[in-house]
Amino acid sequence: MKLLEDRIRKDGIVLGEDVLKVDSFLNHQVDPDLMMEMGKTFYEQFKNEKITKILTVESSGIAPAFATAAQFHVPLVFARKHKSLTLKDDMYTATVYSFTKQTSNTIAIAKKFLTSDDRVLIVDDFLANGQAVQGLTDIIKDAGATTVGAGIVIEKTFQKGRKMFDDQGVRVVSLARIAAFKNGQVVFADEQDA
Ligand code: G4P
Ligand code: NA
Ligand code: NA
Repeated sequence: MKLLEDRIRKDGIVLGEDVLKVDSFLNHQVDPDLMMEMGKTFYEQFKNEKITKILTVESSGIAPAFATAAQFHVPLVFARKHKSLTLKDDMYTATVYSFTKQTSNTIAIAKKFLTSDDRVLIVDDFLANGQAVQGLTDIIKDAGATTVGAGIVIEKTFQKGRKMFDDQGVRVVSLARIAAFKNGQVVFADEQDA
């Protein structure tokens, strides 16, 4: 998505070897027009899939997931994060380890908001190591629902998340694919291929 790549070039800040800071339009301050364009792009990619629900994890996934849900006219459900959670009968839960933060969180979705009839599109802001999206696909499986695919705003192709989903046959659509950070600059996968 050219609009997004341009925005990343303009406003993204590369931190160290592998982190892109995008808090001026995605992770802290949010650009609603850009979010709506993202939602339209995901809709075009998945509109024939009879999607019934958009799933994400709080907090940074919510803005792009909401924009997507607004295009499909289906509910958005965001998994809630807990430091620790005593198991509850009325919740589906999964443990998500963050390599970046070196902490584990339990993510949870109320059983009443996900049923075996659901055809789910996952939307998230970053695909890095894939732990968050993996937690969601585990929950979807527990519910007997179907993971149709994942819409990712920014994928870092040099981390292992993408391969996990390819191996599981989950279709991933990423709006920007970053192949590397070089000298503080972003190298997009399409530039590298060129
Ligand atoms: P993973 O889910 O792909 O395994 O990601 P990882 O453990 O590596 O990252 C943990 C958190 O950091 C996630 O947010 C993820 O979205 C975010 N993240 C990963 N790489 C980047 C990056 O290059 N830039 C930015 N800005 N964020 C990145 P989270 O813990 O779910 O937090 P929240 O922001 O949704 O609250
Ligand atoms: Na994040
Ligand atoms: Na996230």
